[in-house]
Amino acid sequence: MKPVTNPLIIAPSLLAADFLRLGAEAEAVENAGADWLHLDVMDGHFVPNITFGPLVVKALKSRSKIPLDVHLMIAPVDPYIVAFADAGADHISVHPEAGPHLHRTLQLIRSLGKKAGVVLNPATPVDTVAHVLDLVDIIMVMTVNPGFGGQAFIESQLAKIATLRRMIDATGRDIYLQIDGGITPVTARDVLNVGADCLVAGTAVFGKPDYAGAIADLRAAAPKIMPEFAVSAG
Ligand code: DX5
Ligand code: ZN
Repeated sequence: MKPVTNPLIIAPSLLAADFLRLGAEAEAVENAGADWLHLDVMDGHFVPNITFGPLVVKALKSRSKIPLDVHLMIAPVDPYIVAFADAGADHISVHPEAGPHLHRTLQLIRSLGKKAGVVLNPATPVDTVAHVLDLVDIIMVMTVNPGFGGQAFIESQLAKIATLRRMIDATGRDIYLQIDGGITPVTARDVLNVGADCLVAGTAVFGKPDYAGAIADLRAAAPKIMPEFAVSAG
């Protein structure tokens, strides 16, 4: 397995934060070393839970300096892409099941100057992204069924992550391989070992009293890169 060469990205999910203090929570994880802020948008239709929409994303944008990583769990998704882009989303990730034309959706996100992501549910095959890799900046593997924080990591997804690592490497493109759901320092090590380079973590960060310590614990799960590789990678 090729060592992960991208710097490890930690994206705390605000779903597990104190919703009475969203702005302060966003600032707190930013100050604690978060790379991206992961925002879970749910509609009670595509997933069995409801969270927030573009107005909250816009409010958070005014308090955040790190990229807003917006995970849309809404269907149909296409009519809302522009609204989330205008609200300040830096990355917009969609589920292929949330619209009829994934290629067109990704083109739209890219045309708005945003990073485009595709999210694969546990039962969604890797082939779903095979013919849109040229339009993708992020592939996100759900290691829980989407809708709720605090669920148990689904082990069967490790083989899928390894397959996606090989697909991404074959493109030669810099595509993030992001993992969402049930991430702890233990499962973080498992997914990083098979080639992930970006971790979403809700409970594992906001559920802890010390956010900086929690983020450091996740970073410590990263496989150590061999010194000779680090030199050759420049
Ligand atoms: C679930 C969301 C996740 C969620 C992860 O649908 O997409 O981002 O916040 O929560 P944890 O890290 O607690 O599993
Ligand atoms: Zn998410």
